[in-house]
Amino acid sequence: MKFIIYLFLFIAACHAASNNTICTNGFNLINNKCWKLFQEPANHTMAERTCTGYGGTLFMARTAIDNRAVGNYVNSFGIDRIWMGVFCIGNVKNQCYFDDQVGSTVIYDNFAPGFPNAGTGRCVYYSVPGSPSGLWINADCTEQLSYVCELPTTHSDYCDFNFNDHCYFRNDELPFSAAQLQCQNLCGNLVSIHSAEENRYITSIYSQFSYDFIRIGGIATSNDFVVWADGSVMDYSNLETFGTGGNCLKMALKSTDSHSRGAWYTDDCYSPGHFVCKRPIGAVDCSGTPPPPTAPPPPITPPTCTTGVYVAPGVISSPNYPSPYHSSCAYTLTTYGSNKIRLTFNYVYPYPNYDFVDIYDGGSTDTPKITSLTGYYGGSYTCTSTGNIMYINFRVTSSNSPGYIGFNATFYSVF
Ligand SMILES: *[C@@H]1O[C@H](CO)[C@@H](O)[C@H](O)[C@H]1NC(C)=O
Ligand SMILES: *[C@@H]1O[C@H](CO)[C@@H](O)[C@H](O)[C@H]1NC(C)=O
Ligand SMILES: *[C@@H]1O[C@H](CO)[C@@H](O)[C@H](O)[C@H]1NC(C)=O
Repeated sequence: MKFIIYLFLFIAACHAASNNTICTNGFNLINNKCWKLFQEPANHTMAERTCTGYGGTLFMARTAIDNRAVGNYVNSFGIDRIWMGVFCIGNVKNQCYFDDQVGSTVIYDNFAPGFPNAGTGRCVYYSVPGSPSGLWINADCTEQLSYVCELPTTHSDYCDFNFNDHCYFRNDELPFSAAQLQCQNLCGNLVSIHSAEENRYITSIYSQFSYDFIRIGGIATSNDFVVWADGSVMDYSNLETFGTGGNCLKMALKSTDSHSRGAWYTDDCYSPGHFVCKRPIGAVDCSGTPPPPTAPPPPITPPTCTTGVYVAPGVISSPNYPSPYHSSCAYTLTTYGSNKIRLTFNYVYPYPNYDFVDIYDGGSTDTPKITSLTGYYGGSYTCTSTGNIMYINFRVTSSNSPGYIGFNATFYSVF
């Protein structure tokens, strides 16, 4: 009998050891989530920057249990409001998005009566228990509040880097196929990337290095379709440039005129490049053949001029483009709370000194103006917002623009 009990305890201990849910980076395991409170107040942009620096986001409550747990966690610190990872572009629940880009607050919300209300501010804070208790309220993004960052849980394993139940390993320079072979020897594959958080995490493991780029395990067959070397489904893309020099993907580790940090671009497959291997936690079976890739996702339809808000990625152009314009138009571009907007003009030629493309680093003409474009712009013009919103005011003051075409620009979500 005693022996059976010992045996049982032994099995239970093994089970606990190999299936040990953990948090990395000094985050606390609470309610099966990894959370960390930052008490030093910061505006929403700075709070997001801190969280994304860890490969995480501001905390997101997607059930009543999460919502209560975060309140209990911060209550003892005497804090009454904290930023949360929700950003609203309108006044209804399906216009408020969770930071991890998986959906809107239609899934779950605990907005206070009268909210969401983007008129009060597009950012959302959580009111710590007290009064009102655990409710979500819109506020101006420049307010300074404490915040809680969230990381995915993971399990312990012998990894160089451990994130969201996968091990990541940095490697020295090789061409694409040799890199994939080396990863297979480690029971993994060249890294595939499935969320903005994972993308940021991978850039963060190179923060001590000054490489221009790394190879990642994707082959782009068009500007909206990537085949991953590990056979996983393409459910996220950060492909910025689809060129003609080759189909293998690289990720930029520095922002330059042609690439944004963290963005992907196509290049040749043969030159050597540093690369990351990835394998699931606990996987020691190296014999699997990858499943075939699935059908490409539907293409994104470019918006036309309305007074609406456009969510990145997308294309905007002057009314009537590529024919001559006759009217003004304003565009609000946004992306998820934790990202920024990068806008690139493919073509810009408003009637010199009469018609203008004014670009603002924020949601209205009251925010700082980045630039005002008028007349012909040879080559392309690119700019990046500091937060997750940009306002483009195409101002026509000429009475009858004699044949000017205006502009066409693409915008992207970057970090
Ligand atoms: C640990 O969890 C995984 C997935 O949840 C399971 O497949 C595996 O059998 C578990 N390992 C042990 C030792 O129980
Ligand atoms: C947020 O705070 C940072 C640092 O204090 C400041 O540089 C930035 O301008 C602020 N941004 C906004 C939108 O308030
Ligand atoms: C704007 O430019 C993009 C990229 O060059 C192009 O795909 C798109 O068709 C253009 N838009 C219009 C309305 O011509």
